[in-house]
Amino acid sequence: MNYTAKMLREDALKDKVIVITGGGSGLGKSMTKYFMELGAKTAITSRDLEKLQATAKELEAETGGQCLAVQCDVRHYDEVEKMLQEVLSHYGKADVLLNNAAGNFISPTERLSANAFDTIIDIVLKGSKNCTLAFGKHWIDIKQESSAILNIVTTYAWTGSAYVVPSATAKAGVLAMTRSLAVEWAKYGIRSNAIAPGPFPTKGAWDRLLPGDLKEKFDLAKKVPLKRVGDHQELANLAAYLVSDFSAYVNGEVITIDGGEWLKGAGQFNLLEAIPEDMWDMLEAMIKAKKNKE
Ligand code: HXC
Ligand code: NAP
Repeated sequence: MNYTAKMLREDALKDKVIVITGGGSGLGKSMTKYFMELGAKTAITSRDLEKLQATAKELEAETGGQCLAVQCDVRHYDEVEKMLQEVLSHYGKADVLLNNAAGNFISPTERLSANAFDTIIDIVLKGSKNCTLAFGKHWIDIKQESSAILNIVTTYAWTGSAYVVPSATAKAGVLAMTRSLAVEWAKYGIRSNAIAPGPFPTKGAWDRLLPGDLKEKFDLAKKVPLKRVGDHQELANLAAYLVSDFSAYVNGEVITIDGGEWLKGAGQFNLLEAIPEDMWDMLEAMIKAKKNKE
């Protein structure tokens, strides 16, 4: 099976202007690259301008497309407004906002300082809110016919997760914002959707969530029914679809792409997978024998 193939036709995002927060690394970079291959004009933003400029140069060389690097700490509304203005003066418009920037690390919650907790909430929830509000106000002001917001959340946005409590709290808020605005802003032609990825290896996430030998101790692929981690192109395919006009009727949806990971953790009897085939004959006989005695 070839799950790394590119999904959409070549001009699927032709001339769409897409702003990707946290687009200088990891999944943001992979999605940006595919958008450019599909004809989009992109702007990548984060705190580290040098990294953004290097990524933009690399992606332009690889795809022949356009990528603007804009420094912006999403925690600060004034920086977000400035970033939007820079995109507008460079490209003349913005069609899509992809809230991908995030901060995260593992820690027992009682070890966190108030500032540590705030830092994650500020990047993930306040940052997504800042960008959404600035872009939304702009689109509504100019009566833009159609635009889209895509938020990257996680599956623990609805299950919660121990040891990443600030991130889980913030991502839950982003998911609530996605669904709320899908209804409220539909009248302005603004769609809101989210993607909940399972494990997709990136340096940013793995260094903070699986430091040292945790990578070997907790092989995340083992938690996935499909027995593998995700490939960046699979996520890029889904993101490209959700920001394209092909998904014009998809609004307020969160699409999970995790190989079945979170459901495996949720189903009460899923652990019975450990039972070997031949033991099932014995178990069936035991259950039936009990019934015959009732
Ligand atoms: C406890 C910690 C900590 C840790 C930082 N802090 N790391 N506390 N354990 N490991 C505390 C600091 O002591 C400080 O509190 C506060 O947090 C802020 O830290 P700073 O380093 O000053 O913050 P800043 O420079 O803004 O950096 C933010 C960051 C950093 C989140 C801490 O890791 C970062 O820049 N991350 C961006 C990229 C990222 O996180 N990518 C992963 C996304 S993965 P005090 O009180 O001392 O001042 C993801 C995947 C989810 O979301 C699902 C995967 C399957
Ligand atoms: P990553 O490479 O660390 O990406 C996070 C990005 O956010 C970085 O480019 C970072 O750039 C940017 N960022 C952090 N703080 C910022 C701020 N204050 N302002 C602006 N930008 C900021 O990690 P990733 O794995 O690709 O994560 C991308 C997204 O996928 C995140 O939303 C994450 O929660 C989600 N996700 C990932 C996985 C996975 O398995 N990898 C699973 C589920 C969800 P700077 O440091 O330059 O600012």
